[in-house]
This record gives sequence, structure tokens and C-alpha cells, in this order.
Amino acid sequence: MKYGIATLDDLDVAGKVVLCRVDINAPLDPETGGLRDTTRLEGCAPTVAELAGKGARVVLLAHQGGDLEYHNYASTEPHAAVMSDLVGRPVGFIDDVVGPAARERIAALADGEVLLLDNVRFVAEELTLFERKLELTPEQQAKTLVVRKLAPLADLYVCDAFAAAHRSQPSLVGFEQVLPSAMGRLFEREYENLSHLREEPDRPCVFVLGGTKIQEAFPMMAAALRDGVVDTVLAAGLVANVMLAARGVDIGAASMEFIRASQLERFVDESKAILADHGDTVVLPVDLACVKEGARVEVPVGELPAAELLVDIGHDTVSAFRTAIGAAGTVFVNGPAGVFEQPESEFGTKAIWQAMADAPGFTALGGGDSVAAMNRYGLAGRFSYVCTAGGAMVQFLSGKPMPVVEALRGAAARFA
Ligand code: 3PG
Repeated sequence: MKYGIATLDDLDVAGKVVLCRVDINAPLDPETGGLRDTTRLEGCAPTVAELAGKGARVVLLAHQGGDLEYHNYASTEPHAAVMSDLVGRPVGFIDDVVGPAARERIAALADGEVLLLDNVRFVAEELTLFERKLELTPEQQAKTLVVRKLAPLADLYVCDAFAAAHRSQPSLVGFEQVLPSAMGRLFEREYENLSHLREEPDRPCVFVLGGTKIQEAFPMMAAALRDGVVDTVLAAGLVANVMLAARGVDIGAASMEFIRASQLERFVDESKAILADHGDTVVLPVDLACVKEGARVEVPVGELPAAELLVDIGHDTVSAFRTAIGAAGTVFVNGPAGVFEQPESEFGTKAIWQAMADAPGFTALGGGDSVAAMNRYGLAGRFSYVCTAGGAMVQFLSGKPMPVVEALRGAAARFA
């Protein structure tokens, strides 16, 4: 047991049917339908291999894409072959989730065999729109189709889908109500690393917050500042632009219009409150960059406004940030420092990521764009910890309850 949740060490899985919920949701190649990134499959492969290696009959449940962002909503069939390579044994696939065909295959599994079911979100009750609209209790989730049809065939439930731990959906919180349940190895590792970051980071602890997802960056920053977790916040990307505006800097009409059009104006007011309480902890850029007639132009903050959109941090800011990162015991980065997909505005992100890769402290990175930047600059393997989660990581670091964590804890108490 760890954190009040059972682990794989607490289960005897040999000869048992184990329903294992994984998060192998991946970006797909629009032309071929193949997986463009297999990081999440690599993340949960050790759990699948361990279960099968111990003689379990493993049924993998997973989603691909979602209803909120409909692109990538597809079958999990291509994932089976990739998973098979990763675990070094065949992973079967069936284009069914709860129907008779799936149930027959599950009933016929042999010890050590692995079967991946089709996209669990093809079943209506798994949809996020459904989750948001109905807000079912965990007890109600246990009465949904997926749980009613599959739980009777299974002995145990394992959740390794940390990246979906912020979702209250049947395949994630329903089985814990009716089956002895545990977290998988990836779930355990993510929980451990993020708890370390949230509760006992090596000091000084530095957060580098950038990107355009201010709705995510702000709750993480507010919780870390409130709880005294972070010693220094280095603001970059749109987070910095909003905070500069809050400090009364005229960042220019183009950048202000971008903030307004993205409906992020309310964060200017939120920033004012944060800066009033924690002004010494939050470090804002001293220079920024825009692109003028195709060329990068850097502007000291004192010489703003700029007519063009501010799309990166400048050299002086990078130097100061680099020093803070090099001296930190812990550095966590979420969100690029600028529009790193364009050569004129990638300098800040590239330099910060490189500084983290070279830093002696514990370096943690999370979020889709941040991972994409790491891969773009060939820095995979150079960070202490790369989180496979996006929204779930944000919710965890913001100190909000996680439905799957609560469901697993409930199961640990119920089936002790
Ligand atoms: C993710 O991509 O963050 C997870 O797979 C969860 O996906 P969701 O946001 O569609 O629930």
C-alpha cells in the first residue's frame, strides 16, 4: 500500500482476469492513422508486462481521443501492435468493448495472455460531455454498461491511467466500487514524483511557467505559492505577458488583443492579486521578442509597447532564468517560453530546455507542448522526470481532488 492505495505488490494476479485501465491516448497521423508518439504506451508497458509475466489474464481498457476535441477519436487497434512490441508478447485486439464478442474473448483468455478492447469512449457513458452533464456518483458509475458487462468477468481491477485520473468516468472510477483494485506502476511513479514536487521539493524550488494555457498555469502557480512549495516562479510565454500587463506595463495593442480574443483578460486581475501577495517570488521577463518583417527583434520591457505580438522572451531574460535554473534544487517546467514552432521565436524555449537538461537539480517537465519541445531539441532522457499527464498533472499540482485516486483509496478500504 502507498498513499492509502493498493499497489501491484498487494495483488495475487496469477490465473486471475485483471481489467487494466491504461491511458494510451496518442496523437495520430491523419494520413496513416498510425501513432505519432508512443510515450504513454512506453509508460504503462511495464505494468502490462508485469501482470502478464505473473500469469494474469490481462484485459486492457483504454480511450483514444475524446469528445471535447473530436480529432484523434479513433479505434485502439493500432495501439495493440505497438504494445505487443513493448511488452515482448502478443497483444490481441477486438473491435468491441462490452458486446458478446468481447466477453467471449475475455472468457477464453489463457494465463499470461493480453487482450486490448476497442476505444472505451465508443460507449456513450464514458464521454466527457456525459461526465460533465450528469455528474454521476461513483455508485452510479458502477451501474453503467461498461462496469455491468465487464466486472462479472474479472477478478481484479488495476488503474495505470494516471493521465486520466482527473476524469470521473465509468472505466476509471466504476470498477473500484465492485472489484479489489490497485494502481499500476506508472500511476505509482507519477503519484510519487508529483507528490515529491508538491510536498517536499529540494530547495530552492523553481517553477518555469509559460505557454498559452493560462487556465492551467495559474491554479498550479497559486497553489504552489500559497503552500510555500515554490521559491521562485519564472514567468514566460503568455503567462508573462498577462503578468506584465497586471504590473501596469503597456505590452502593446496586438498582445492585449490576443489576450482578449483568447478570453484570458480575467487573469490580468488574478495576476494583480498574486503579485500583491507574492511579488518577490514571481520573476517577470526584462526583455521580450517580436517578429518584424520576418526578423526577430528584441525589446527591453522598459521600451515597450511593441506594435507586434510578443512571441518570446529575450536574451537578458534567458540569462537570468538560466542562472536560477542552474542554482535550483528542483525545477519544474510547464509550457514553452514562446512560439517555439517558429525559428524566429524558439530561442527562449530552446535555451531554457537546454539549461534544464544541464542543471544539476531534480528537473521535471509536463504537458503536451513541453514534451514536444523536449523531443524537438533532442533532449529526451535528459530530464529527471517527464510526466505523461497533462490535465491530470495540472489538477494534482493545483491541489484539487482526483476522482480516480479517491476511488482507488475507497477500494483499498472496502476490499482490505
Ligand atoms: C489526456 O490526453 O490528457 C488524457 O488522455 C485524458 O484525455 P481527456 O482530456 O480527453 O480526458
